[in-house]
Amino acid sequence: MAYFITVEGIDGAGKSTHLEFIQNYLNKKNIQNKLTREPGGTEIGEKLRQLLLHDDMDVGTETMMMFAARHEHLVTVIQPALKSNISIICDRFTDASYAYQQGGKGIDKSFIKSLEELVHPNLTPDLTFLFDLDPDTAHSRISNERNLDKFEKQSSTFFNGVRKVYLELAEAHSRFLVIDSSQTIDQIQQIISKKLDELVK
Ligand code: TMP
Repeated sequence: MAYFITVEGIDGAGKSTHLEFIQNYLNKKNIQNKLTREPGGTEIGEKLRQLLLHDDMDVGTETMMMFAARHEHLVTVIQPALKSNISIICDRFTDASYAYQQGGKGIDKSFIKSLEELVHPNLTPDLTFLFDLDPDTAHSRISNERNLDKFEKQSSTFFNGVRKVYLELAEAHSRFLVIDSSQTIDQIQQIISKKLDELVK
């Protein structure tokens, strides 16, 4: 059985710390897996990522480019892996398009829904970890670290919109586990392990 696990959250909510932990968990259970990310995960996808993270563009263009990168990722990486019984841990997926392009930038939900139906009508994650943190705390965690990309530079109003849509998605779909990111790393990893135990049992 191959699992499709996604990891989401606003920038600075700390998901990166836990991606490796999830991969180590699967490795310990001898579950073959691949850790990948969006936008990106393929040569073309990584080129699109550079444009998406650093160039200003209309939100419609941005949304379609996210899905173009996703299509390439699905066709060349995700679907072949799942077919070969290799689980996928994906650092962001379509939920991020709803959260950022709809919740943050205000594009119509139906625009994203149409692209979702076109690009992956029959695939949804088995499990989605949503790392949740209030935008001010999240921003203070990243602002000293490095040069911020175009999304990370957005205002807390933008991130409140992103967070709101993430939490609405989590309410609507049972595949989500919302994790309060203000907890310690140990506490969070215990929660992740427990959920993964339930998934792989
Ligand atoms: P990362 O910093 O977690 O690697 O994600 C890159 C940025 O891209 C992050 O700020 C969220 C954004 N993003 C979207 O706006 N829409 C999407 O569909 C995806 C996958 C990411």
